[in-house]
Amino acid sequence: MYAYVETFGCQANVRDSENIMGMLAEMGYQITSDQSVADIILFNTCCIREKAEQKVFSRLGALRALKQRKPDLIIGICGCMAQQEGMAALLRRKAGHVDLLMGTQRLSRLPELIAQIRLSGTFQTDTSETGAPPEENLPSLRRSPYKALVNITYGCDNYCTYCVVPYVRGRERSRNMDAVLEELRALSRTGIREVTLLGQNVNTYGRDLDPSSSFHALIQAADRIPGLRRVRYLTSHPRDFSRQIIDAIKETQHVCRHFHLPVQSGSDRVLEMMNRGYTRDYYLALVEYIRRVFPQATVTTDFIVGFPGETDEDFRDTLSLVKEVGFSSAFTFMYSPRKGTPAASMENQIPLAARKERLALLMRAQEEASLAHHTRLKDRVVEVLADEISGGDGAPCMLSGKTEGNHSVVFSGEPSMLGEFVPVRITEPQTWILKGEAVC
Ligand code: SAH
Ligand code: SF4
Ligand code: F3S
Repeated sequence: MYAYVETFGCQANVRDSENIMGMLAEMGYQITSDQSVADIILFNTCCIREKAEQKVFSRLGALRALKQRKPDLIIGICGCMAQQEGMAALLRRKAGHVDLLMGTQRLSRLPELIAQIRLSGTFQTDTSETGAPPEENLPSLRRSPYKALVNITYGCDNYCTYCVVPYVRGRERSRNMDAVLEELRALSRTGIREVTLLGQNVNTYGRDLDPSSSFHALIQAADRIPGLRRVRYLTSHPRDFSRQIIDAIKETQHVCRHFHLPVQSGSDRVLEMMNRGYTRDYYLALVEYIRRVFPQATVTTDFIVGFPGETDEDFRDTLSLVKEVGFSSAFTFMYSPRKGTPAASMENQIPLAARKERLALLMRAQEEASLAHHTRLKDRVVEVLADEISGGDGAPCMLSGKTEGNHSVVFSGEPSMLGEFVPVRITEPQTWILKGEAVC
């Protein structure tokens, strides 16, 4: 029996898929990347923007014929789209061949729901919300032998006015600190060298625990785990990224000096409408403090352009922020109205053409900034965790991996370097990647 699992969206979904595949493997399924041989096809979905949803519906449409040929094939939707209100009814109308709809808080019910479908042949769904962190020790098929994702918080309480996540992932729940540290130790024992601590806003980790705990305490404890060479975290919220956290990172050896701080906009008016809870000046002061403490820090960000009511002047403030901060890279998104969020019913929605134009301008500005930042790394030697062979299978071959600052590097080296921290001289910096060669 074969199972095909496709993951859309963010690292939270990537991690959930590892658990989903772990459960499927325990049920006796082999994981395949070939849909046509699969006995079960699961889409772990995202609804952060409209495009993400459209992709899933078009994938589902393409499966109609396969399902007709193979009536026993189970097709399932899980993840954030599954948790949206009215999804069961929508699927009945648009994709009646779906057999399973499973919410973001019901992962552990997967084996039972599949067994029910096999038994009764009828549609099964569970999108109820437990309000609790998921059970510990779900089976897991991890993607990499060197790098691992580890959940620290689930859900989000921030209610940025454009964002669907709080509605589909529930209230913020922190995982018990001992459980997190125990998982980190176990991963280190299996050879994992880099971990990424995951949450929608990791900086408020532990506030809801009794007794309460904190993000800075967690990263300091993670830093002391033998064998872990890099500790990363995703995502920070600039409002909650306190000086206390920055000062705590300074005391650590392995917490990466990479600061991903999604700013979203450079205009105070827009930031306020987004309910982000900080101003442009606050953000600039935060980055300045980080750079004072860590002169080599890389700072990256996310932007949304075309938020309702965003004027040309607001947008110019975003463009000027790109220049002022000098982000080494940025994710740039065009605002996508999400049903049920406050921003979707705000006045002055920006027409698609204007949103597209702003996105193109912002991308161009950021590409220039990225290239300028990368060019400064020419001839420097950086340390790369080599985690993939990206070309050639003999020696020498091309390998790829990331620096501490999260730069993607492609370099010539030996297959035996896989899983190692390799010194690489940068020979050819480009906009998206750095090219180089291993220094031995
Ligand atoms: N919790 C994280 C990740 C949120 S989703 C955070 O707060 O950063 C990742 C990015 O998607 C966000 O940072 C934002 O830039 C973008 N995003 C979220 N909702 C969006 C929407 N409705 N339209 C366009 N981009 C959106
Ligand atoms: Fe969405 Fe804001 Fe929560 Fe991030 S912090 S997930 S953007 S509501
Ligand atoms: Fe998408 Fe859900 Fe992540 S909506 S971005 S997969 S939390």
